[in-house]
Amino acid sequence: MASVEKLTALFKLFFLVAVLLQWGGSHAQQPYLNNKQLNCSEQSDNFTKGYYCNGLHKSCASYITFRSTPPYNTAVAIGYLLNANATQIVSLNNFPSDFATIPSDTLVLVPVNCSCSGNYYQYNSSYTVIVNDTYLIISNNTYQGLTTCQAMMAQNPYDPRALTVGNRLLVPLRCACPTSAQSAAGFKYLISYLVITGDFISTIAAKFTAEVQSVFDANELSSNVIYPSTPILVPLRAEPKINESQQTSPPPPPPPQTPTGVGESKSSKKWVFVGVAAAASSLILLGLFGFLFYFNKRRSRKPKPLLEPRPPLPTPQLRKFSDSSDFPPSISSQGIRHEIESLTLYKFGDIQAATGNFDETNRIKGSVYRASFKDDDAAVKVMKGDVSAEINLLKKINHTNIIRLSGFCFHEGSSYLVYQYAENGSISDWLQSNKNQASHTLSWQQRVRIAYDVADALNYLHNYTNPPYIHKNLKTSNILLDGNFRAKIANFGLARTLENGNDGGLQLTRHVVGTQGYLAPEYIENGVITPKLDVFAFGVVMLELLSGREAAAAAERNGEGELLSASIERVLEGDNVREKLEGFMDPALQHEYPLELAFSMAQLAKNCVAHDLNARPSTADALNTLSKILSSSYNWDPSDELDRSTSMSSSR
Ligand SMILES: *[C@@H]1O[C@H](CO)[C@@H](O)[C@H](O)[C@H]1NC(C)=O
Ligand SMILES: *[C@@H]1O[C@H](CO)[C@@H](O)[C@H](O)[C@H]1NC(C)=O
Ligand SMILES: *[C@@H]1O[C@H](CO)[C@@H](O)[C@H](O)[C@H]1NC(C)=O
Ligand SMILES: *[C@@H]1O[C@H](CO)[C@@H](O)[C@H](O)[C@H]1NC(C)=O
Ligand SMILES: *[C@@H]1O[C@H](CO)[C@@H](O)[C@H](O)[C@H]1NC(C)=O
Ligand SMILES: *[C@@H]1O[C@H](CO)[C@@H](O)[C@H](O)[C@H]1NC(C)=O
Ligand SMILES: *[C@@H]1O[C@H](CO)[C@@H](O)[C@H](O)[C@H]1NC(C)=O
Ligand SMILES: *[C@@H]1O[C@H](CO)[C@@H](O)[C@H](O)[C@H]1NC(C)=O
Repeated sequence: MASVEKLTALFKLFFLVAVLLQWGGSHAQQPYLNNKQLNCSEQSDNFTKGYYCNGLHKSCASYITFRSTPPYNTAVAIGYLLNANATQIVSLNNFPSDFATIPSDTLVLVPVNCSCSGNYYQYNSSYTVIVNDTYLIISNNTYQGLTTCQAMMAQNPYDPRALTVGNRLLVPLRCACPTSAQSAAGFKYLISYLVITGDFISTIAAKFTAEVQSVFDANELSSNVIYPSTPILVPLRAEPKINESQQTSPPPPPPPQTPTGVGESKSSKKWVFVGVAAAASSLILLGLFGFLFYFNKRRSRKPKPLLEPRPPLPTPQLRKFSDSSDFPPSISSQGIRHEIESLTLYKFGDIQAATGNFDETNRIKGSVYRASFKDDDAAVKVMKGDVSAEINLLKKINHTNIIRLSGFCFHEGSSYLVYQYAENGSISDWLQSNKNQASHTLSWQQRVRIAYDVADALNYLHNYTNPPYIHKNLKTSNILLDGNFRAKIANFGLARTLENGNDGGLQLTRHVVGTQGYLAPEYIENGVITPKLDVFAFGVVMLELLSGREAAAAAERNGEGELLSASIERVLEGDNVREKLEGFMDPALQHEYPLELAFSMAQLAKNCVAHDLNARPSTADALNTLSKILSSSYNWDPSDELDRSTSMSSSR
């Protein structure tokens, strides 16, 4: 009897130790997902919604991982998906450049700032729903398990059955900050590592030169059973480096089943025992512990899909969410047009299909092709070199008179930018190529409207974006016309931000680029970059709209000659302004324009191309003047023209 009591007492003691261990080791760290992320039911366990905000700090630097896979196989694309900084990804992983193709399945380390949002640590990214997406597909496939359907459902307003193409979702990526216990033990960072088939806790630890036991503790793991597409926290004492030999040499032959690491159970037991031995010195206790632990493990293992192949037990709910044939997402092109506010990363195959494999008949001009995606037309521009600046600018900008970038794709060193399609081509096409077709010219009202639209867009870029942008390459071939002849500024490859310096935004460059005829003198001579650069080019564009002449036609033909910007001064100075202006105006207009308003616009254009940049109006002033010219132009009746122009010339 006494021995039974002793045994009971021992058991009690053991449970106390076990509880203490459980408490000390796990309460403050993070429970492992254990494949619960696949059960998208709404009343899911809290730990599926994120790592608890239980660390020493409310925010910290941390790292997440991602495996390169097309189309997310460049630093820019991965940075885009994960809302991370491509430059930092490049330097942390020693990639050659932002847009170099990363071989598929390469483990990429991504630095992020992890912070508490409510009860959970997370790093926010955002994502736009595409065809056939569900919360599960987005979390498990697109984000490779960096988030869960439960977390996405908790933080997004859209019903899982009503996800619509173009919905913009918040994607809370799983990350965590060290607990006070981890900090005390010297750990500085936690990596959210994504398990793949064949991984064991020991190989994961080796990959980052981390301590195996710390990985067990950080994830409250009591068994070796881990699943692909789940994150494992790896605590590190220093900034992470992937051990190349671990990255390239394949881990020990994996068991073919879904749960990974099972074949390692022997070595895992060893580690678990080490932990116990440190806590309890009694051999009996150790034996009991091991015995109970074994049972515990068997119990917890049994119901798991240990030896079953993948998609583990689709529940009714799961099927409901992942089977898109029951709830086809609505794919109206209208929906796409109105709801997409972010960029789509296209697969190269989709771009090929949409352009008929870059068929010559789809070539618009140069390396720009017409493309058809579902019912939406688009223009695809093929580019070499770094396009991240243009992408980063256009994704932030939303103005009807600025061409919309809808997405992009990287493939074998080239970039493919997908823009909204402008049916009527560029205004230089209208002013130059179609010159001799009277039926095919822009009317006076259309020209004023175009000038107004361009001024509106420039005013937005200069005064309403933060930071302000300078286009730097405004010209008639970069101003496109949609089906209603509304202008859209394109080609932001040279655009740059205007940083708020102490010198009132004055920047200098030694690298003068641009197009002859549009470049402001202070830029050519001294490399001065201000918004007045765009104002100058805009003045030249207005002169082209008025005259139908090219910005630098004469200069290009004979190497000298006069630029259009210089010729306007003579037209508006001195005597016979009326005759000189009529002679300057585009013959294609066939005198169908109000001379008085043409004079006002020519005067504005002349001010815009003033040699002294301080004499040029701001875009806001230019827009204001043009709005008056525009409204008068709409009221203009061609039959009055004789009277009006007579009154103007007499008033001069
Ligand atoms: C999914 O989770 C819910 C809530 O925790 C649970 O009732 C249900 O049994 C789970 N389904 C499966 C297949 O595990
Ligand atoms: C889960 O989170 C909710 C809301 O934060 C809380 O009310 C509930 O008590 C939590 N459940 C558990 C089991 O921790
Ligand atoms: C990205 O990181 C680099 C280097 O740390 C920094 O210079 C750059 O400003 C960052 N870019 C953004 C958009 O935060
Ligand atoms: C994280 O925060 C630091 C300091 O606030 C900042 O320099 C860094 O760019 C941030 N990184 C990201 C990825 O936002
Ligand atoms: C992340 O998103 C959540 C939900 O919108 C928000 O409460 C939180 O402040 C965001 N975190 C950061 C760092 O912006
Ligand atoms: C969407 O799902 C349907 C039905 O499973 C399939 O036929 C179609 O190809 C899918 N579309 C895309 C773009 O993957
Ligand atoms: C989750 O993603 C992995 C990797 O892409 C895939 O093999 C697996 O089938 C996915 N699981 C589900 C349930 O979609
Ligand atoms: C990388 O891993 C190999 C094999 O596990 C090990 O021998 C080597 O010391 C590790 N290298 C570093 C820098 O940790």
